[in-house]
Amino acid sequence: MEQTSNNSLNHIAIIMDGNGRWAKNKGLNRTAGHEEGAKVVREITTYCAKIGIKYLTLYAFSTENWARPKLEIEYLMKLLDKYLKNELKTLMENSIRFKAIGDLSKFSKALQKTIKDVEEKTADNKNLTQVLALNYGSKDEIIRAIKKLTEKNLEINEKNFEACLDTAEIGNVDLLIRTSGEIRLSNYLLWQNAYAEMFFTSTLWPDFNSKELENIIEEFYNRQRRFGGV
Ligand code: FPP
Repeated sequence: MEQTSNNSLNHIAIIMDGNGRWAKNKGLNRTAGHEEGAKVVREITTYCAKIGIKYLTLYAFSTENWARPKLEIEYLMKLLDKYLKNELKTLMENSIRFKAIGDLSKFSKALQKTIKDVEEKTADNKNLTQVLALNYGSKDEIIRAIKKLTEKNLEINEKNFEACLDTAEIGNVDLLIRTSGEIRLSNYLLWQNAYAEMFFTSTLWPDFNSKELENIIEEFYNRQRRFGGV
């Protein structure tokens, strides 16, 4: 892809929305939408690795998603566990590192172990880092960061605060995408999106693909990022 500006693109964050509507439109159970959505996660992750993106952060389960029906939550937990176990091979083949952000303590011990195993096994991979936001909420992350700052008795400044966020080594978002036509951040990376270029597409997540991502990236390079300057 031709880069036509000085915009650097290291970190893409995506709010993967619309699985339920995709399934409903097809007369299927909502869970079928999540299953299809997981396939798109694989396609988009390998594509980002191929084009040299450094970080891809995907909103997979929010602190607010616990309000969903119990059966749907159980299904999402199982899908996540299955996805991580199945994905290890693809992650290793493409030298993709896996990392989770969010408060993982609310998950079952078994799921926490799967997450930790995949993080450890992929820790030395050098290509893209795929970050899954799991039981993640930006407000929760900010409160946890403030607690860490206070515990460590650190001076309150931007650098120390960022070092206490879950995204300490990941940094700010360059490009934020939300699928399904909703135009809001839904408690996602509020601090890190301060200067992100934002793209909202009506495509439902299970219909999203690398071609559409390529078009969005092309538009990203055509935007002028001034970061408050002129
Ligand atoms: C939003 O669609 C999607 C989620 C809350 C979960 C995201 C999960 C996946 C993409 C699949 C599993 C992911 C991994 C990493 C295995 P929605 O259910 O809110 O859709 P709706 O707004 O149309 O109801």
